[in-house]
Amino acid sequence: SGGKLWAGRFGDQRSIDPVMERFNSSISYDKRLCYVDILGSKAYATALFKAGLLDQVECADICHGLATIEDEWRSETFRINPSDEDVHSANERRLKELIGSAGGKLHTGRSRNDQVATDLRLWLRQEIDQSLDGFLVQIIQVLIERAQDEMDILLPGYTHLQRAQPIRWSHYLCSYAWSLWSDWQRLMQLRDRVNVMPLGSGALAGNPFPIDRHYLSDLMGFDSITPNSLLGVSDRDFVVEFLSWASILSSHLSRLAEDLIIYSTKEFNFVTIADAYSTGSSLMPQKRNPDGLELIRAKAGRIFGQMAGFSMVLKGLPSAYNKDLQEDKEALFDVVDNLFCTLQVAAGILSTLKVNAEKTLGALSSDMLATDLAYHLVRRGVPFRDAHATVGKIVAMAENQHKDIAALTLEDLQSISSVFDDPSVTNIWNYEHSVEQYQVTGGTSRRAVQKQIDDLKALLEFR
Ligand code: ARG
Repeated sequence: SGGKLWAGRFGDQRSIDPVMERFNSSISYDKRLCYVDILGSKAYATALFKAGLLDQVECADICHGLATIEDEWRSETFRINPSDEDVHSANERRLKELIGSAGGKLHTGRSRNDQVATDLRLWLRQEIDQSLDGFLVQIIQVLIERAQDEMDILLPGYTHLQRAQPIRWSHYLCSYAWSLWSDWQRLMQLRDRVNVMPLGSGALAGNPFPIDRHYLSDLMGFDSITPNSLLGVSDRDFVVEFLSWASILSSHLSRLAEDLIIYSTKEFNFVTIADAYSTGSSLMPQKRNPDGLELIRAKAGRIFGQMAGFSMVLKGLPSAYNKDLQEDKEALFDVVDNLFCTLQVAAGILSTLKVNAEKTLGALSSDMLATDLAYHLVRRGVPFRDAHATVGKIVAMAENQHKDIAALTLEDLQSISSVFDDPSVTNIWNYEHSVEQYQVTGGTSRRAVQKQIDDLKALLEFR
């Protein structure tokens, strides 16, 4: 059992199957917890000192040794031993090498079970605070800046991917800005549930020494402490919640990516993706592929998979710590790493995208104003259902005559309904007029979109 922390109960004759050793080991990936592990250990040493379990010299030696280990990790001189099962064992083994027997006191009352749960929460909090928060805000900013600058651009809005009604490009951009704003809010809410300290839960029963958990929690910047030691060591809901959050976020980005992939085809040609985010074909010289967007779309699938996979690991686990929980890390790291790239590439694509305003305007056609014709009748007192039926007939008439609906004469319209008694009806054949009808909060008129932009700006500013 070659120097394992837990070797005592096994005889010297014990030999471990090397495949089992690899199977059990997590250091290849959990070494990225090295800094939070050291942070947690320094705090724990301080709490042990306060509880009278370490004297001042021992505590100082431990903290000094831990600082040396931190330097070794930073300068990439830390040597991982084959018998180091995980980062916690490795750091403790190294501490004993550096400072001798006082190093063996650090683990008093602590278990790797409460240690790893604490480390992972510290690590995730740090990723949220140092990266995810900012990356998300950055994309929202890009969207609202564009929305402000490109307010004049109109394009077809689609339902069922069929041409529906004209909308402002800025309205479209704001729709995603709002989704991502909700994602930001969700992130901050789940952060509260991440930032809870399990340390002091021991292996499962708690800590038998007079450790001040609130003091310990303050030292590490936690907001609160877990209320039950069994739960403290085994609760990975914060991981599942984060993975679920990431799934929701990535599905928003995937839908946006899908729109832009469609809009960037020659058939649509609404947008041009910058060279920096496009690739060519090794065979077809003319190709310009939106690989960045496609990968954003694909990452969503992968992230959902990690969420589902780790949820299946948890389902059916008996109470308290089980080694199955070690699987939390690869899922979490993979999702965070992929989100890092996804969020940054998405911000890059959105900020460098070119919108072809003539194309988006040119894609509008007067049949998309059929609803407006119905609204014209409604404004003259016709019940909407009747107006809808009347305009349906007008659409059919235009189709039968192979005419643009806007080219029908007042007489044509009057042949279907006598309510068309006012020549001003022709004013509706105007896309700007069409979008400007939607003055209601949340609508696509200039004023209503401006309000969205202003509201989003204020939310970001006072977040
Ligand atoms: N490497 C382990 C993990 O990630 C640390 C906890 C090990 N605890 C145990 N009782 N074997 O979950």
